[in-house]
Amino acid sequence: MAGNSFGKVFKITTFGESHGDGVGVVIDGCPPRISLSLEDFVRDMSRRRPGGRSFDTPRREEDGVQILSGVFEGLTTGTPITLFIQNRDADSRPYEILRRLFRPGHADYSYYKRYGHFDFRGGGRASARETAARVAAGVVAGKILEPLEAKVVAYTLELGGIKAASINLDLIDNSPVYCPDAIASEQMEEAILKAVKENDSLGGIVELRVTGCPAGLGEPVFDKLEADLAKAVMSVGAVKGVEIGAGFEAARLRGSQNNDPITPDGFASNRAGGILGGISNGDEIVMRAAVKPIPSIGIEQDTVDREGRPARLKLTGRHDVVAVPRIVPVLEAMIRIVLADHYLRLKAMG
Ligand SMILES: Cc1cc2nc3c(=O)[nH]c(=O)nc-3n(C[C@H](O)[C@H](O)[C@H](O)COP(=O)(O)O)c2cc1C
Repeated sequence: MAGNSFGKVFKITTFGESHGDGVGVVIDGCPPRISLSLEDFVRDMSRRRPGGRSFDTPRREEDGVQILSGVFEGLTTGTPITLFIQNRDADSRPYEILRRLFRPGHADYSYYKRYGHFDFRGGGRASARETAARVAAGVVAGKILEPLEAKVVAYTLELGGIKAASINLDLIDNSPVYCPDAIASEQMEEAILKAVKENDSLGGIVELRVTGCPAGLGEPVFDKLEADLAKAVMSVGAVKGVEIGAGFEAARLRGSQNNDPITPDGFASNRAGGILGGISNGDEIVMRAAVKPIPSIGIEQDTVDREGRPARLKLTGRHDVVAVPRIVPVLEAMIRIVLADHYLRLKAMG
């Protein structure tokens, strides 16, 4: 299985499966003399892990990070950093059915066609458990970015068809679904409870903003900043679409409407989403990610077994009802990882 690494200068390689010993990440390219302690990981890791909300998987993981290499006396040494997160609460019994049957909407069918043999327990490598390693790597990326004073923030813009009507960033952490609109947050929670009762699942849209990112990050052709950001976000399970700035709406505008006029004080609007020609323009970077509904549902569905014979599958086991709140810190981490990579490239090459 190739393709487990991401980034050019700040390069991460994640490993591990949902029901194996644990998941983790090896980070190559982190500069020396950056302070890093276990406490640095606590906030982001606890925002990602299932939090006991009615819509989270009942799986309980502490998600404590172990630093296995690359840090000495509280400072990075410039050698590979290995971060490991042990799996402590994996229950593989309900997944035995997946030895035979493929879950509609999940990765089982395509993994079987690709590899013939794979760890299906709890989604294996396709499980959101892998995203714990990304969040841990994102913490290190955030440390590298500190001199830039750029702020990365993500929130739930839409969930189950309910949209945030206003954006107050101060409300995000008070909302169980990380929604910046208190009224919409309550409506989203109600929609989730309804989906739980109906054994179904929901999707949504996450918006990401980077403020304080200076102009000049990114490369002009294959490694355009938006190309790397889109890949980073699309590489997270359940993400099915990415928009930057005006995104798909730009296709419906005229040039006179879509161009951001440039004034001596900066851009008069931001339909570009903070990136022009693959390089940050100093304006706020704005992205949106479309997140599909959780595939594992308690409603009986058509599927086939490994021999292609028709079957019906109704899932038990421990699942999220919606990926959106838990994906918010994961996407923030992926953005930091891309920015750290491009920041180090800029420092190395000018
Ligand atoms: C934070 C997060 C939590 C998720 N939780 C679950 C879950 O509990 N059950 C499930 O079937 N899928 C879950 N998913 C979605 C699957 O990981 C994803 O749909 C699957 O890997 C197939 O990949 P694809 O949807 O990108 O095609 C979750 C995804 C994320 C990002």
